[in-house]
Amino acid sequence: MDSEYFNILFSPIMLGNLEIKNRIVFPAMHLNYTPEGYVTDQMTAFYENRARGGVGLIVVGGCTIDKVGGGHFMIRLDTDDFVPGMADLAKKLHAHGTKVFTQLYHAGRYVASWMINGDTPVSASSVPSKLTNETPRPLTKEEIKQIQQYYADAAMRAKKAGMDGIEILASAGYLICQFLSPLTNQRIDEYGGTLDNRMRFGIEVYKKIREAVGDDFAIIMRLSGSDFVKGSNTINETVEFAKSLEQLGINGFNITGGWHETHVPQLTFSVPEGAFSYLAMKVKQAVKVPVIASNRINNPGLAERFINDGWADMVVMGRALIADPMFPEKARKGQLHEINSCIACNQGCFDNIFNGLPAGCLVNPIVGREHEIKISKTGKPKKIAVIGAGPAGLEAAVTLAKRGHKVDLYEKEKWIGGQFNLASVVPDKEGFYNLLLYYAHQLEHYGVNLHLGKPISKNNLSKLKADEIIVATGAAPLIPNIEGLEEGIEDGYVKLAWDILSNEFAGTSENIVIIGGGAVGCDVAVYITQDGTMNEKTARFLLENDAEDPLLVQQLLKQSTRKVIMLEMLDKTGKDIGKSTRWPIMQQLKRRGVKMYTNTKVTRIEEGKVFAESNGQTQAFDAGIIVLATGVISHNPFSKIKDKRIHVIGDAQITAKALDAIKQGFELALTL
Ligand SMILES: Cc1cc2nc3c(=O)[nH]c(=O)nc-3n(C[C@H](O)[C@H](O)[C@H](O)COP(=O)(O)O)c2cc1C
Repeated sequence: MDSEYFNILFSPIMLGNLEIKNRIVFPAMHLNYTPEGYVTDQMTAFYENRARGGVGLIVVGGCTIDKVGGGHFMIRLDTDDFVPGMADLAKKLHAHGTKVFTQLYHAGRYVASWMINGDTPVSASSVPSKLTNETPRPLTKEEIKQIQQYYADAAMRAKKAGMDGIEILASAGYLICQFLSPLTNQRIDEYGGTLDNRMRFGIEVYKKIREAVGDDFAIIMRLSGSDFVKGSNTINETVEFAKSLEQLGINGFNITGGWHETHVPQLTFSVPEGAFSYLAMKVKQAVKVPVIASNRINNPGLAERFINDGWADMVVMGRALIADPMFPEKARKGQLHEINSCIACNQGCFDNIFNGLPAGCLVNPIVGREHEIKISKTGKPKKIAVIGAGPAGLEAAVTLAKRGHKVDLYEKEKWIGGQFNLASVVPDKEGFYNLLLYYAHQLEHYGVNLHLGKPISKNNLSKLKADEIIVATGAAPLIPNIEGLEEGIEDGYVKLAWDILSNEFAGTSENIVIIGGGAVGCDVAVYITQDGTMNEKTARFLLENDAEDPLLVQQLLKQSTRKVIMLEMLDKTGKDIGKSTRWPIMQQLKRRGVKMYTNTKVTRIEEGKVFAESNGQTQAFDAGIIVLATGVISHNPFSKIKDKRIHVIGDAQITAKALDAIKQGFELALTL
């Protein structure tokens, strides 16, 4: 089908003898929808929606191939019992013209023993894993042959189930990487030592699978473009591995970034869009089979450019299609305003998985419930007033309007967004602003009457002509009881975090003390320590013209003119930040020289000084400016009003993450 827009992205491509209708790949993602390893309705509905949205290829998985390579809760292909479920899934996805692969997964030393009934994880050698803090045992040669057979058996099951091909997982630090890397492979037999020897395990896996499935079945491999781990493989070794596999007849490569153990962020909002695609380009220059670029490719224009510029033949769009399953169709028709973009917050997807929960999505609250929820038109349209246009209120208003209700949305400010406006000024968090643009478009599209600059008070609440009233008035900064704090606020040397993030001038002082090291305190620290760092354009100019020592440029990129101290009462800074996002933020703050104190309680403030207690000792900190980031409390001016029409959602009810606020807005809107 000819596309009206993005002709290259929507042109077909061959992987071996298999034609794929366009260049968009939904990658393997462990979604935690398969508690027993069998395909479930939850999982089928999720994938069917993506197929309906027009994606060319879906890679289902990672699928475990044996008892020690992954948990029982991963999608399983280790016995024939799992074939009928897969077959049913393949049939349903094929009905939309989407091709389907399964990813064969063996985590080696990345699996924790609790996931595999207390067994000891296996690997090339017994090198401890930083991911699990466990030490694996080395595989014997007999076991190596056995595992290779398991790969082949699982591939045959995928073929029997009617899948169109398979992807072998050899990225992110999993078992094949553990053989490839000199860091984790210390073997002295033919599987260790030289690169040729280290490649042997992965190559034999490929050969064994090929022997089993025959030449006509598509096989691709997912490779780490560069491990981004000191002393481990770089793009050079990856290219060699790819060339060897190509000679043996592999049909394509999917190139990601580094390992789970890397210090380089891979998935967070700090990763620029398409940042690792240059790795795909390096592989593409060395092989003739198609190469897929991956990570943070979120917009069709960028995808089209990568393919057009010869950096890749296809692109992975993972979280982009979690956020909006209809992304491909909308892009093909040029409906770019309609696309609900991933903001790489990871709150609903990666963090949920880390917490053992099914994958969800902050910007698309139906994710994970697509099998049980339909946004249906109401039989009884009502007049509904929503008070507060923060995340919860916006989601409630849009969903209600979609359902056919007549919605009036009242916001006291002259703009929508509430706390999202604060988040969106933090470097790399512009995605939050894009989400507001999307909501603004949705409000208009679904005919929500937006009343900006219209505060609703206790007095005029009863005058609202509405059948239902939704209170989504958010939160207010929590002002703790600290000696000297009130005077500080009055005299202006204590600022509220929200004011700083609302672009209030933070003063010229070098020394800044932030009271409170939660998510907001960290946001403020990132925001403030941007001051005095070299801008990216200058850095590029200096490097491109070979004008300056790259080490000096690197130093100037991260060296701030602010000296920031952050004081946190709890035992950990950033405790309320999701696991996948916290470490890159901590790393960035450390690089910028932010001094983080934990178990430290501020007891007194005076101009120029903050006094804090830790382990029974009082310490004084110099502070030109003091920033208060001590959390928030619910703000509900109507809490005492008894009115059956009132429903309270989001932070106004209980302070929580934006993920929860949006979910609440959505879920309430489905019930009215
Ligand atoms: C929740 C979640 C689970 C994932 N599980 C897998 C997996 O099982 N196998 C794999 O190769 N990659 C996995 N990934 C990585 C994705 O396939 C993809 O490379 C990553 O999300 C970056 O692409 P994106 O920015 O388009 O989302 C996972 C990512 C997420 C967010």
